[in-house]
Amino acid sequence: MSVERAAEILASAAQGVALTGAGISAESGIPTFRGEGGLWTQYDPVKVATIERFREDPRAYWTVARERGPAVLSAEPNPGHLALAGLEQSGHLVAVVTQNTDGLHQDAGSDRVIELHGSGRTVQCLDCGTRESRRDVQGRLEFQMPPRCRICGGMFLKPTVVLFGEPMPVDAVEEALALARRADVMLVVGTSLVVYPAADIPVVASRAGAAIIIVNAEPTPMDGLAAVVIHGRAGEVLPELAYRALMSGGG
Ligand code: APR
Ligand code: ZN
Repeated sequence: MSVERAAEILASAAQGVALTGAGISAESGIPTFRGEGGLWTQYDPVKVATIERFREDPRAYWTVARERGPAVLSAEPNPGHLALAGLEQSGHLVAVVTQNTDGLHQDAGSDRVIELHGSGRTVQCLDCGTRESRRDVQGRLEFQMPPRCRICGGMFLKPTVVLFGEPMPVDAVEEALALARRADVMLVVGTSLVVYPAADIPVVASRAGAAIIIVNAEPTPMDGLAAVVIHGRAGEVLPELAYRALMSGGG
């Protein structure tokens, strides 16, 4: 059975690394971007999530962010996040590299979390640099659209996330690639693996000799790289996978 096979591989990991995407937060109530019900099936990312568009008119971005805000801000870690935190505690994982900006890995207790696309919990004014919590900004979106900077009144308040067309955080990408080159096991969870450079990470790990395990609700373009592919929900598969890896010792 593939979970057993994956647990055997994970049990022997000394430099295990997880790579996660929106799918691991789906069971926390945060819609994914692609696949069934994904955000990009409702909105055109070019119109709402590029830095050029944001600079022209931040309203488009904030209209979607206002709608998504309550689900993201009230989300709790699910058993999938908790399982990865447990695997870090047991030494089977040394880090979680995530494309998510929801902060749920940290809330679940994962220590070493590399956020490739930044964090959606903070908002920064592009004019004066003032930072504010995303939660506070949500509070005034009903009567202030787009939200304005409390200090300078500027209209370019942007969450500290990477929009399309923006450079990636270099340190985070470097750290993620270094981890991938050293990894002996890479556990890829809840990502469609179509956005780069994140989608390169399992390729780098595989070339360096890591065994790849993919847990995803549907097939990905990288399934051919994996020693084991498990099609299922992260919140169900990961706890069982972690339990079996812990029971078979190692780590
Ligand atoms: N368990 C496991 N996998 C799931 C679950 C679940 N409960 N629900 C959905 N999935 C899978 C979907 O089948 C899909 O393949 O998770 C994947 C999510 O893919 P995307 O929505 O494309 O999310 P992600 O890969 O993280 O997107 C990468 O694209 O828009 C940008 O910056 C955004 O970080 C994001 C990046
Ligand atoms: Zn300002």
